[in-house]
Amino acid sequence: MSQNQFDLKGHLQHLLTLADFPRKTLTALLDRAEQFRVNPGDLSIHYDLLAGKTIVNLFFEPSTRTRTSFELAARRLGAQVITLDMAFSSTAKGESLLDTLYTLEAMNADLFVVRHQEPGTLEILAQHALPHVHIINAGESSVSHPTQGLLDVLTIRQHKKNFKKLSVAIVGDIRHSRVARSVVHALSVLGSQDIRFAGPAELLPDDLAGEKYTNLDKALEGVDVVISLRIQKERMQAGLIPDERDYARRYGLDNTRLRLAKPDVLVMHPGPMNRDVEITSEVADGPRSVIREQVANGVAVRMAVMATLMGK
Ligand code: CP
Repeated sequence: MSQNQFDLKGHLQHLLTLADFPRKTLTALLDRAEQFRVNPGDLSIHYDLLAGKTIVNLFFEPSTRTRTSFELAARRLGAQVITLDMAFSSTAKGESLLDTLYTLEAMNADLFVVRHQEPGTLEILAQHALPHVHIINAGESSVSHPTQGLLDVLTIRQHKKNFKKLSVAIVGDIRHSRVARSVVHALSVLGSQDIRFAGPAELLPDDLAGEKYTNLDKALEGVDVVISLRIQKERMQAGLIPDERDYARRYGLDNTRLRLAKPDVLVMHPGPMNRDVEITSEVADGPRSVIREQVANGVAVRMAVMATLMGK
């Protein structure tokens, strides 16, 4: 666990990782997120919990879901939001990340949401931030993506009641996946033990506890949840990127394979999806898919995290 996440009174100050996260705090975040969930099309409740606060999004890697949902979450809590276009920020002129932090702190920014390609960056920011300032990890290299882990377990909890009895198969490029790491951390905190990793040997993790399979059909037998992941080409050397057709044949999730899982299996994918590579449209858009529920939960989870960090 990060030493920097909790203040001296034990309050959550930053959200950097879910590794060894206190179960009570994790459950409280999920319960809080449930309160912020709304039905599709219903935005009748307005919150002013973060009125007068300024939230800055710093995304050094591309994002659709995470960036938009943090921005919406902040606005729905009444905060002001600035999303810097990093390609046109002074980072492009050589300004360091810490100087960017100090500059925006001087303008009274209260909370930074940061996605970065370098491992360790989030810890450094948390170490150097002013005492009243909060840092949220919105995706750190292949290391972690804690709000994704939270929204994933929230989605599972809405359908499955006992995490201890859960069998979860994570399929695809797990080695390069920050999503896989954070969801495994969250599942472990909640007591899940049967976590299976399936994919080509070179894409399986060597730092996560769980059973590893190069045969997808075996991994899917009797599972309650399948989490499909895309191949993270941006984190691979060109020669290591698998041939997509061959990959789809061996590791693509289709309806035939899905029948090996339990009949009430949940199909999840953090997005973005590469349809007909790691997952077919019939599965992604099929009756067992909760992929869009994950997206909806993302806003609620990010509202819960920001409100909690700011003590509201
Ligand atoms: N799941 C996720 O992080 O998606 P984005 O890259 O679109 O934010």
